[in-house]
Order: sequence, then structure tokens, then C-alpha cells
Amino acid sequence: MVSIAVNKGRDNVAMLGIGAYRPQRIVSNAEVCEVLDSTPDWIFERTGIHNRRWISGEETIRSIAAAAGERALNNTPVDRAKIGAVLLCTSSWLKLTPHGAPSVAFDLGLNGVAAFDLTSGCGGFGYGLGVAADLIRAGSAEYVLVIGAETMTVGLDPTDRGTAMIFGDGAGAVVVGPTEENGISPTVWGSDGENAEAIAQDVDFLEYMNKAQAMQGTDPAVEPVGRMSLHMEGPKVFRWAAVTLPRALSAALDASGVAKEDIEVFIPHQANARINELMKKNLGLAEGIPMANDIENTGNTSAASIPLAMEEMLVTGKAKGGQLALLLGFGAGLSYAGQVVTLPPAPKEPSF
Ligand code: UT7
Repeated sequence: MVSIAVNKGRDNVAMLGIGAYRPQRIVSNAEVCEVLDSTPDWIFERTGIHNRRWISGEETIRSIAAAAGERALNNTPVDRAKIGAVLLCTSSWLKLTPHGAPSVAFDLGLNGVAAFDLTSGCGGFGYGLGVAADLIRAGSAEYVLVIGAETMTVGLDPTDRGTAMIFGDGAGAVVVGPTEENGISPTVWGSDGENAEAIAQDVDFLEYMNKAQAMQGTDPAVEPVGRMSLHMEGPKVFRWAAVTLPRALSAALDASGVAKEDIEVFIPHQANARINELMKKNLGLAEGIPMANDIENTGNTSAASIPLAMEEMLVTGKAKGGQLALLLGFGAGLSYAGQVVTLPPAPKEPSF
């Protein structure tokens, strides 16, 4: 009987460096309300957002993903030639073919490595971090670059009261690699496809193409084709989050073997500051521990929000490298993924 070889990697892995990119253009609530039927006060009270970043000029999903990746590599004491895989967590890449990671890897001087996209909505970074840790543990790569990058505003209807004030653009990235002490717990993750349509594009590609084609013809019954955009049943997602996420957070703590009293930093996905306050309270995390609130000036950047928020905390000194942090991403799917981690060192090359 022929036996087939098995990989063996390293059990202990951690985030060794972090980098982020915040688009140049800052968009205030007042500017959003120039076309949206809302008020700056309503937006801040219900979401915790004052400002968000939108891409402008030459900025694209590809350029911001590469910029964050470049900073993460520069902020990590590992030769970039050792990166064995690039994982791009995004729902914003504009083509299904070719997917984004190979082009971004090329831009980073990493042409030739394994490169693939991971789409899991706002939970994308949590999924990506878990996959990266497991790739290293399995021996499939020694070092992995995980990038969360989104240009949510490309598919945003600026008049939609459920989304226009929430979403923003940005990118964050971490280098994951082997370490002496383990710095990434088992991933706790899950999904609820029964409620998948609660966050969804209004039409799929085929419907969109059919509509566009019909418009070229003579069918006057066909509505003019507009932009393909994202819609969200916010209150439904809020209720799902209130029930599902406390359980996910407890499960992440159990899987990590770390007591909640030992958690020093809480970095949830930046969907809504009110959801995060509720989660922190319900989980019974120590009152005084720092919690990410990058949403206030960055908005909800989907799969980019956790690395952006982590970077902001490290740059401003709200959190320190080596501290124990609880991460949880959640959103479209509906899906979630979380871990207990040790934070990477503060970046030498920050994003602001
Ligand atoms: O990142 C992916 C995961 N996403 C999430 O977790 C998002 C979760 N959901 C949310 O963040 C919130 O549901 C929203 C911020 C989207 C909406 O806030 P809400 O507190 O759930 O508002 P609502 O839809 O329940 O509406 C409350 C009121 C309504 O008015 P009445 O009926 O009480 O008079 C709405 O018509 O607020 C009104 N409203 C608005 N007013 C001003 C709804 N949207 C707006 C708006 N501006 N944009």
C-alpha cells in the first residue's frame, strides 16, 4: 500500500505584525445627510458614527488592500520572502474572475505564493485569521498575510436609510506566523443561512444582466436598471446579534481556556457601537477594559473593521502588544467568527 505524506506544521501561532490603510476622504454625518433623509444626531445616537472614510481619486479596493498589506509586512520582523500564502478577506472585489488575492500578492512583490479570497461578509477577518492559523498548524504555509479590505461605498445607495450612514471603506492586515507561546485560540465560528437575506445585494448578477439586456430591447414593462446595491434589515440583524453573539463570545472563551477576567481588550466588529456596548455588558467583561470604538471615525468597514480597530488601539496606546484580546466578527451570511488572541506589537508605520 502506497502511503501519502502528511504535512506537519507548528502548533503555536500568533499575529506578528499589523498594518492598515484609511482612505484619504473623511465624510461627516452632515455630508451623508445632504442626500439621506436623516440627521447627524440620529446617526450618532443610533450607530455611534461621526465620520467614515470613503475612497476617492486613485484609491481602489486593490490599492488599499495592497497598502495595508505593505504596512503589515513592513511592521513585522519577518522576511517577506517567507510569506507562503496571501488571504484576502473581502466582499468588495469587483470581479469573481480573477479573484483579488493574486493581484494584491503581485503588488506586494509576492508573486507566486498561494493567494485566495475569502468572502464571509463582516465576519471575514475572523474567518481569515482562523484559516491562516490552521494553515500554519497544518504545515501548508509557514507565514500567512491576512488582509481584510472593503470598498463598501461602491455598492452603496446614498439614499438608503438602512445602510448609507453606516458603511465606509478601509483595509487592515496582519502577518500570522509560528511563535513560542500560542497567540491565537481555536476559532469559534458559525452561520445562519435561514436568515441570509437580512443582509443582501438587491439583485444577483444574472438578474442584473437580464434587466440590462431587456432595457436594450423594447420591453417598456422593465424598470430602468440602477446600481446593484446592498440592503440590510438592520433591526433583524440587531436582534440576531443580541441572541447569537453572546453565545459565540462565551464559546470563544471556553475554547481558548482563558477566563473572562483575564481578557484585557475587547475588539468586536465595528457594526454599531450600541451592539458592542450591549455585548460587553452581557458577557460580564470587566467594566474598565478598553473596547474598540474605531466605528466613531471609520464607520463600518465590514471585513476590514477588526484589523483597523486593532491598529487604532495599538497606535493610540489604548491597547498594547502582547495583551490578551477577544475578537468577534459578524454580519452577512448571517455568520460570525471569533478568537482569543495576543495582540501584535504597535505598528512602526501607522495608518494615521
Ligand atoms: O456589519 C454587519 C452587521 N450589521 C449590523 O449588525 C447592523 C445592525 N443593525 C443596526 O445597526 C441598526 O438596526 C440600524 C443602525 C441599521 C438602524 O437603527 P435602529 O435603531 O435599529 O432603527 P430602526 O430601523 O428600528 O428605526 C427606528 C426609527 C424608525 O422611526 P419610527 O418608526 O420609530 O418613527 C425609523 O423610521 O428610526 C427611523 N430611521 C431613521 N431615522 C433617521 C431608520 N433609519 C433612519 C435613518 N435616519 N437612517
